[in-house]
Amino acid sequence: MKRVLIATSGGDCPGLNAVIRAIVRRASQEKDWEVVGSIQAYDGLLREPTEIVILDKKTVSGIHVRGGTIIGTTNKGGPFAWPVKNNDGTWEYVDRSDEMIRKLKYIGVNAVISIGGEGSQKISKKLFEKGLNIIGVPKTIDNDLSLTDFTFGYQTAVQIATEAVDKLVTTAQSHNRVLILEVMGRNAGWIALSASIAGGAEVCLIPEIPYDINKVVERLESRFSRDRGFANIVIAEGSKPIGGEVAGIKSNEIGYGNIRLMGAASRLMQEIKSTGFEADMRETVLGHLQRGGMPNAYDRILASQFGVKAFEMVLEKKFGEMVVYNHPDICSVSFSEAIQKEKLIEMDSYLLHTAKGIGISLGF
Ligand code: F6P
Repeated sequence: MKRVLIATSGGDCPGLNAVIRAIVRRASQEKDWEVVGSIQAYDGLLREPTEIVILDKKTVSGIHVRGGTIIGTTNKGGPFAWPVKNNDGTWEYVDRSDEMIRKLKYIGVNAVISIGGEGSQKISKKLFEKGLNIIGVPKTIDNDLSLTDFTFGYQTAVQIATEAVDKLVTTAQSHNRVLILEVMGRNAGWIALSASIAGGAEVCLIPEIPYDINKVVERLESRFSRDRGFANIVIAEGSKPIGGEVAGIKSNEIGYGNIRLMGAASRLMQEIKSTGFEADMRETVLGHLQRGGMPNAYDRILASQFGVKAFEMVLEKKFGEMVVYNHPDICSVSFSEAIQKEKLIEMDSYLLHTAKGIGISLGF
């Protein structure tokens, strides 16, 4: 019997379970393959006792509609930077990648499918260079991986953010207020821009375009006349004013390398107030609501396509590559190509052009 191991890593994302199910169902069509999952990314493999589960058709039955991942995930540490606590209470990070590869051999794993975002695929590349048979499947609600038209989870997140804008528009209108919605998007503003177009926001601020507060206020003023009017702003969490930094804190969670982004909306509210703008304002932070719950139909389909393709790449021994969606095909690219650059919103993109064309202010 040959064995493929699945690991889901990084922030969770609607559609992860649909990928797992598709891999298992496709593998079950081959007579000599079985699928196992490592609990919480590679942590399950590295823990003693090892935490690995068998994934068969029964285990994955019906999971494509469920949010999260049935095998868990983590966005801390990893095989190249495993946190170890010293006797004096300090932490150090040790490289356990060789040990992990040995363990995979020992338990009879012939190939690994790593479902994760940019950080996870950088780890995949390093593991491949060490000789591991590994395939990548891209995952992120931020949709910021280049060379794939979309990542699963993104369309669901856009839907959730759009529904939030729809709701906030009615309350802004009733109260003659400015309502600010903060959505996810660390370096890329895809969710913010798409939800602004779909929901009808007046202002959209994204990480790619540092904003000029005077331009933002100019647009707000144009929406009010004698205390009447309303406006909706969508801001991506990673947005910053011209000359400023992102709003966030350094996390004290062990093994968490990122700045924890928070406060973009409330900072914006203060900046608007400090210009003397007088209308009432409120902020809403959508946060992890965008990552949880059921994937929509689009994401279930894309995730299923990625899962089938990933397993077929194992059969074809296309190791060192990541699945990508290149409409209308599902293809693959090398890890090096996949992680070369982030997919950010370009100034000449048609989505940005559309936003401007329907009168959304982008704060510049
Ligand atoms: O990478 C996806 C993402 O949703 C980012 O937009 C966000 O900054 C981050 O995950 C938050 O992740 P967590 O709170 O799980 O660490």
